[in-house]
Amino acid sequence: MEFTNDRVLVLGGSSGIGFAAAKAFKAAGALVTIAARSMDRLEMAGAEIGAETRLVVADVGDPASLTSALAEGFDHVVVSAGVAAVPGPLVEIGADGIAESLTGKALGQAQATLLAAQAVEPGGSVTVVTGVAGRKPLSGMGAVGMANAAIEAMVPVLAAEVGPTRVNAVSPGLTNTGAYAAIPQVERNNLFANAASRLPVGRVGDPADLAKAILAIAANSFITGTVLEVDGGAGLSTNRPSVRRPEKPAFSAKGSAVVH
Ligand SMILES: NC(=O)c1ccc[n+]([C@@H]2O[C@H](COP(=O)([O-])OP(=O)(O)OC[C@H]3O[C@@H](n4cnc5c(N)ncnc54)[C@H](OP(=O)(O)O)[C@@H]3O)[C@@H](O)[C@H]2O)c1
Repeated sequence: MEFTNDRVLVLGGSSGIGFAAAKAFKAAGALVTIAARSMDRLEMAGAEIGAETRLVVADVGDPASLTSALAEGFDHVVVSAGVAAVPGPLVEIGADGIAESLTGKALGQAQATLLAAQAVEPGGSVTVVTGVAGRKPLSGMGAVGMANAAIEAMVPVLAAEVGPTRVNAVSPGLTNTGAYAAIPQVERNNLFANAASRLPVGRVGDPADLAKAILAIAANSFITGTVLEVDGGAGLSTNRPSVRRPEKPAFSAKGSAVVH
């Protein structure tokens, strides 16, 4: 994929999925700007992404900072800001937890996506990162799921309204990013091993898995209004039967396989 001299803004580009996407865009020739709240983290990320990476402080909860980050115009914008939603059983977090999740995560991502859709060049793209809990029931992640589902409901409508600008989402499953850095190492390893054992692909996500999907969507001018699940097959099955390999086929005298 070629993005030579395309201008790309990654909101949430200083860590995790956004950082991996920024690195991949840069490697594909794009002029990359990363935005997030902490300039310290942006500087560290920018040094790793490479020379000429532009750094902008912006908060998806602050429309003025988003407008200013978007002011110079972009060909592609990725919204991957890791705004926390409230975890826990719905009856425990209650309406307050739901409201906090919707106003923080859903509204923040929605605001950034709306402003980006108006700022990118016609034919350009906006890709917002949602999450597996929006489509698949995950106990203790109800409000997170509600926030993701809200964004995913917005995507096709906005895509229809702002075409030829394209709007899409990628929905990650559990992906090993800085979002889990606060969990002690042993506990984190157990969490990932447990999740991996329940996935058809047998592993949790790497940020690079998501970056590949984001670049594929940005590069393809015929994709809009979609949500691409990049989750290792989460929810396809919670019960993995052992795979029975067929016995070695018997051969007839003529050499063709005998089908029983
Ligand atoms: N990792 C997973 O397992 C997983 C699964 C499903 C969905 N997701 C979704 O994927 C997206 C990215 O998550 P991640 O795992 O890559 O997270 P991450 O490694 O924690 O990175 C989050 C990035 O967003 C920035 N950010 C956080 N709050 C922000 C705000 N209010 N305004 C602007 N930037 C903000 C952070 O920098 P600052 O803190 O400096 O602002 C950082 O650059 C999130 O929407 C998350 O919900 C992740």
